[in-house]
Amino acid sequence: MLDKLKLEVIELVNNSDNLDKLKQAKVQVLGKKGSITSLTKQMKDLSVEEKKTFGKQVHELKEYANIIFDQKEGFLKDKKIRDDIENDAIDIFLPQTNLGKGSLHPLSLVRNEIEDFFKSLGYSVVEGYEIEEDKYNFEMLNIPKDHPARDMQDTLYFDAQELLRTHTSPIQVRTMEANEDKTPVRMICPGKVYRRDEDDATHSHQFMQVEGLVVDKDISLADLKGTLELFAKKMFGDNTKVRFRPSYFPFTEPSVEVDVTCHICKGKGCSVCKQTGWIEILGSGVVHPNVLEAAGYDSTIYQGFAFGMGIERIAMLRYGVDDIRHFYTNNIDFLNQFNRNK
Ligand code: PHE
Repeated sequence: MLDKLKLEVIELVNNSDNLDKLKQAKVQVLGKKGSITSLTKQMKDLSVEEKKTFGKQVHELKEYANIIFDQKEGFLKDKKIRDDIENDAIDIFLPQTNLGKGSLHPLSLVRNEIEDFFKSLGYSVVEGYEIEEDKYNFEMLNIPKDHPARDMQDTLYFDAQELLRTHTSPIQVRTMEANEDKTPVRMICPGKVYRRDEDDATHSHQFMQVEGLVVDKDISLADLKGTLELFAKKMFGDNTKVRFRPSYFPFTEPSVEVDVTCHICKGKGCSVCKQTGWIEILGSGVVHPNVLEAAGYDSTIYQGFAFGMGIERIAMLRYGVDDIRHFYTNNIDFLNQFNRNK
């Protein structure tokens, strides 16, 4: 009887040509109501002697069944993997979808370059708030309420106290104020600024600045000049010359506007420099004593110089871009010209 059952089990295993069928077959044989399991139940009616021999045979058969089920299961699993590989094979000749690789925006490229230059001179890079207080944007910069100099920067106000910063100078004020020991400062502050301007080829209501500040003992206009000359050569080439023109800012005295020789015509005169040979790149000056005092520095001991430039302007000059709006319209053909991955 057991031999017949053994043959049946072998046949069941042989006929199971997939894992599901094999699982069912195993339940049929070794499950709770399976053919071998029920044999064990019949044993209770046998004599002790019969139980011994029959029990042993049933046990052996059970072991045998387990072995051939396991072997078949291993075989079918292997086969399934091989079949899957064959059926789902990847077609390596299929053309791939080209997702393209992004690259830095031209304004980021220029900002990074400016930051790297000043970092190499030991300046730290500090960021601030785009929503600022009147106090930091104007008052502590020697521009009291109702001062005519407020008209130099058309401002977007939230209320009497809060506004969108019109320049990154408030970061300099905050840095000086927060410096409790009133030790020297050497910093640049890049960031977005906002002005109530009509957008056109050279104006944007939102643009980017990098401003710089050095506060120390024995600082003069000569330090400012040396620093900005180096900077101009770094950005526009070694032969670039620098010219200072007197100007006015409430927070610097004296104030100077800085021009560089036109890198297109090398100073001969062209349409970019409007035939003058010179291009204005930034505003700067010696920090006004009122500004130092407002931030807690003793202006009889400390002096400073400061400068501020628009990143768009530098980028337009560097790359020959004729309209500031190109930086903000996300035209992929424009942006791809700066793509260093290509
Ligand atoms: N804060 C000035 C502006 O935005 C730029 C500037 C900075 C001028 C520092 C002089 C000194 O126009």
